[in-house]
Amino acid sequence: MTKALYSGSFDPMTNGHLDVIERASKMFDQIVVGVVSNPNKHPLFGLKERKELIKTATAHLPNVTVDDFDGLLANYVNRNGFNAVIRGLRATSDFEYEIQMAQMNARLFNAGVESIFLMTSPKYSFISSSMIKEVVSLNGNIDGLVPENILNEIKKKYSL
Ligand code: COA
Repeated sequence: MTKALYSGSFDPMTNGHLDVIERASKMFDQIVVGVVSNPNKHPLFGLKERKELIKTATAHLPNVTVDDFDGLLANYVNRNGFNAVIRGLRATSDFEYEIQMAQMNARLFNAGVESIFLMTSPKYSFISSSMIKEVVSLNGNIDGLVPENILNEIKKKYSL
């Protein structure tokens, strides 16, 4: 059985993330969306909320589950027998950080674990979670950029 991790802060998950998950779910028997609690980013959504939102948004994908971890990603990957870690690349600006992380992780992963990069669909390549939050907080329209269940919850957070 092949198993891949797709990890990030997901504060909140966007349609760009969902697009990567949907495509990765066709390549592996199981995809685990690993939510990192990143207190430095002062998340809008708590860890439990982020996991629930992702579970609802991926309910149509039977081989996708949601988990969380803290500490070193490579330790979580090695402990749980993953074959691969999926990353989305949106623009060339992502590349420098991603190759650095992939090369460090290559030293830390068990033998045979690979980082695999999927190019983000062009219609989502400009999205980031921070930009979504900024636009909503200033009353801008983000229809179509995040899953429906998440759109409602973000609006509630900003009392819109
Ligand atoms: N569509 C839309 N947005 C995307 C995206 C996509 N396909 N891919 C990334 N993004 C956005 C995210 O929403 C996020 O936006 P934000 O900064 O506005 O919140 C931004 O791009 C960065 O995302 P990501 O690269 O997933 O960073 P992250 O901080 O969410 O998570 C980890 C990165 C979890 C993989 C990394 O920090 C990690 O491994 N942490 C564990 C500690 C560790 O092991 N460190 C050593 C690593 S070698």
